[in-house]
Amino acid sequence: MHPNMVIHLFSSYPRRYETIISRLLGSWGVAKASAPGKLILFGEHFVVYGLPAIATAIEARTLAEVQRAKEFSLLDNRPETPGYKKEKCDQQLDSIQRMLKAMGLEGKKVNIVLGGDLVAASGVGASGASCAAIAAALNEEFSLGLDRDGINDVAYEGEKGYHGVPSGIDNCCSTYGGFIHFRKDIKAGKSVVRQLHSKASLSIVVGNTGLTSNTTKVVGDVRAKREKDPEKFKKIFDNYSKIAEEATVSVENGDLVKIGLLMNMNHLLLEEMGVSCDELEELVDAASKNGALGAKLTGTGRGGLMVALVTGEAGSRVASAIKKAGYHSEMTKIGAEGVKVIR
Ligand code: PMV
Repeated sequence: MHPNMVIHLFSSYPRRYETIISRLLGSWGVAKASAPGKLILFGEHFVVYGLPAIATAIEARTLAEVQRAKEFSLLDNRPETPGYKKEKCDQQLDSIQRMLKAMGLEGKKVNIVLGGDLVAASGVGASGASCAAIAAALNEEFSLGLDRDGINDVAYEGEKGYHGVPSGIDNCCSTYGGFIHFRKDIKAGKSVVRQLHSKASLSIVVGNTGLTSNTTKVVGDVRAKREKDPEKFKKIFDNYSKIAEEATVSVENGDLVKIGLLMNMNHLLLEEMGVSCDELEELVDAASKNGALGAKLTGTGRGGLMVALVTGEAGSRVASAIKKAGYHSEMTKIGAEGVKVIR
């Protein structure tokens, strides 16, 4: 009998007992959880220094399956931007070990299988989604009883394997889902997350440069540039602070035209900080020329993704212009549900 069937038969029992019963009957279950990817609409890089950012969970998800085993194994079946998984392989293993340690499971042997429809690419929160999904599946498999905040803390530990000292915006998006206003309280080392509710629905087109970026390196480069030219960066940061304030109000009011304008301004600041690249500029240009209300790089930059805000027919115009230019493009729904266990 499949363990899930056993669990189903005893479904009137609390989950703790279901797991025990399943195991007493002789077979380990496969714990499964999924978590969404994310897009940053405002504030990548600035968020590292404690300034606010706005981001959303998207509909595409990573699925993690975890099962106890005699040896550790990892099978990564996620679709990818070519080269992404190879590039991140060492970071991924480090990330998983960090999460096991954070959960008190150091040395435990597990099989991990990753899948789902979220394309593993820079800018879409692929690592954050996989960390949240793996943390939730491990929590389930070992009946640790962590709540959502606990899963988020573990996912953040996992993110360190990829990003050095991440702001935490990716794991928060993947764990809590929805549309969030995020700030890292640098002194307390805590994430401050607030759900945003927009009066308008936002349509987003994503363009993929096909290039994988190295977040630790790009974040490090920005830090070095800021130290070298503090005055220039103070101006950039002050300008961004105003954009972030106005963007929060515009998102809540559903003022699409203003949101678009602010996205364009945010992109110019990121370009000035040196995190754009020719491919991202081409994508932003294609979006703007084809009727997007606003367009900017999203995530680390120097590769990864471009995000464009569109209305009506501009959506398909922007998407086809991006494809015509030789890049991959898709429309996505935003505000998706956060991490969840699949039973
Ligand atoms: O490229 P992504 O999706 O992992 O986003 C990185 C966002 C940064 O602000 C550049 C780094 C961070 O830790 O927030």
